[in-house]
Amino acid sequence: MLREYLLLPLLASYGAAYTISVAKSGGNATTNLQYGVMEEEINHCAEGGLYAELIRNRAFQGSSLYPSNLDAWFTLGESKLTLQNLSAPLSSALPTSVTVEGKGKIGLTNEGFWGIDVRPQKYSGSFYVKGSYSGTFTASLESNTTGKTLASVEIKSKSVANKWVQHEFTLTPNAKASNSNNTFSLKFDSSKASGGSLDFNLISLFPPTWKNRPNGLRTDLMQAMSDLGPKFLRFPGGNNLEGETIDSRWKWNETIGPLTERPGRPTTWGYEETGGMGLVEYMEWCDDLGMEPILAVWSGLALNEDVVPEADLGVYVEDALNELEFLTGSVNTKYGALRAKYGHPKPWIINYVEVGNEDNLNNGLASYTAYRFAAFNDAISKKYPHIQVLASTIDMTLPGSAGGDYHLYDIPDNFVKSFDMWDSYNDSHPILLGEIAATEYNNGVGIDWSDFTFSLYPWWIGSVAEAVFLIGAERNADKIIGTTYAPYFMNLDAYEWSPTMISFDADPDNTARSTSWHVYDLFNHNHMTNTLPATSEDAFGPLYYVSGLDKKTNSHIWKGAVYNSTADVPVSLTFESIKQGTTADLTVLTAPDAYSMNEVGGSNIVNTKTTTIKAGKSGIFNFSLPNLSVAVLTTN
Ligand code: AHR
Repeated sequence: MLREYLLLPLLASYGAAYTISVAKSGGNATTNLQYGVMEEEINHCAEGGLYAELIRNRAFQGSSLYPSNLDAWFTLGESKLTLQNLSAPLSSALPTSVTVEGKGKIGLTNEGFWGIDVRPQKYSGSFYVKGSYSGTFTASLESNTTGKTLASVEIKSKSVANKWVQHEFTLTPNAKASNSNNTFSLKFDSSKASGGSLDFNLISLFPPTWKNRPNGLRTDLMQAMSDLGPKFLRFPGGNNLEGETIDSRWKWNETIGPLTERPGRPTTWGYEETGGMGLVEYMEWCDDLGMEPILAVWSGLALNEDVVPEADLGVYVEDALNELEFLTGSVNTKYGALRAKYGHPKPWIINYVEVGNEDNLNNGLASYTAYRFAAFNDAISKKYPHIQVLASTIDMTLPGSAGGDYHLYDIPDNFVKSFDMWDSYNDSHPILLGEIAATEYNNGVGIDWSDFTFSLYPWWIGSVAEAVFLIGAERNADKIIGTTYAPYFMNLDAYEWSPTMISFDADPDNTARSTSWHVYDLFNHNHMTNTLPATSEDAFGPLYYVSGLDKKTNSHIWKGAVYNSTADVPVSLTFESIKQGTTADLTVLTAPDAYSMNEVGGSNIVNTKTTTIKAGKSGIFNFSLPNLSVAVLTTN
């Protein structure tokens, strides 16, 4: 019997329950990488986000796309700020510095990434200065609202003429600022500087970071991820890997080593990045959260549709192999030795490499299928046979043991329509669901890429639709390597793409874990090691579900979502191997309405309710799920 719940207006019509019977055995083993994180520099997700640096435009880096400028910097007192490319720069990677000149106490102020969070904790700062100076520097945090100094420290000058000298300091405010509208200032007494001026570069300030790593990551955002327990990290993109042009592609070797050696680059998302969050920081992030790295290497395609011809591709393939040697080679290899020099003698393990990003777009597919993918795939597989190489698309015949990457941005209804898309995927090539998000409201048609009126945040009906799709993927978890929402982060003060999994501003107290975060959190913490076949006379819709087992705990798991029902859906669930009296925890997520969302600075609207229920006669669990709900039942 096929039920058309959408046509039935009354609760009374649901007298008969969805009757589902779950077999003792069968099904398929699932991957261990169910839910992960996709990361690239977009929406200031790293710079001004996850990367904990508080000073924006700290080294005046620029490119032909985004020339060096004084963004985020302001004068202090009677100062004049001038950007210069001195004949003796701090480094060839950081050629531009700022000259501060004027009379009396002068200096410069930075507004941070649209504010600076100030609270009683230790802030570690440093700056490079050139010029003879016999006085002291004053570094301070100040309220932009009241003008009050929130913390201040005097730093004795070590500065000399014709040499860049680093100065380090710490600031320890003794109270929390009333908001994040605060600035950082650096002052000196120009009467004690030869010529009344000094040159500054790489002015940096970090709050405590996750696991106190130097050059590390912002703790509240790491906490939000850690709580969700992601299993993999796909990085560094995304369009940002590709670059606007071939030359502005993401170059791994320019993101490693001392910060003075990292030139930065123009992102594909509207701003210059410093390179501070580089390859090693990504790997440390994986280490800290126990995530499997899925490393994306540049594949010879830029967003402006420039493609590297076959004859010239070798150098880029070599570059990808060098990157892998840097990450995984012994200290006796050239690049393994470099990794050791930068503090990581122990090689990392890379099991997954993705070649490029969305090579089916930007006129890339013909060259990708003709020679680009094969060149990388062959070279990587030959040297590292254990690595699962992934194509960045499934719009091609995947060769050998290669996998593919599928992306889905759509309206909620289309996510639900795609529920069973993996049931009919009978290919042996594994698939990564590398970018998934309901972005645009239901409109009866589908996503409009020319319009881009995407929701600012994930909203509840979109998150439930994603849950339906995730359930479809979990039913086929032997074919799916893992799934991640994308993009993952958004700084609300400067974003190009919404919605995202986690949104934030300068104030960590405002960080919003989205409605989708709550769905992924629930599913991720109830991992099935094996699916179990379920039979029912009732067709999928409005209830969608998957059942399975966690072999480690022997707990039976059932995940369900109700999308577009006119009334509560009664469920009668039997596990063949469960006896009468067995208890189970049923967790149900709901929200006030279909359009509720978790906003930056707001409170969480997702209602999570866990009840313990007992299996009745013949081991049946009877319960009821409201419309637009996501549920997990786990037996004890
Ligand atoms: O996630 C945002 C962008 O969407 C990614 O950079 C790109 O891969 C996709 O088109």
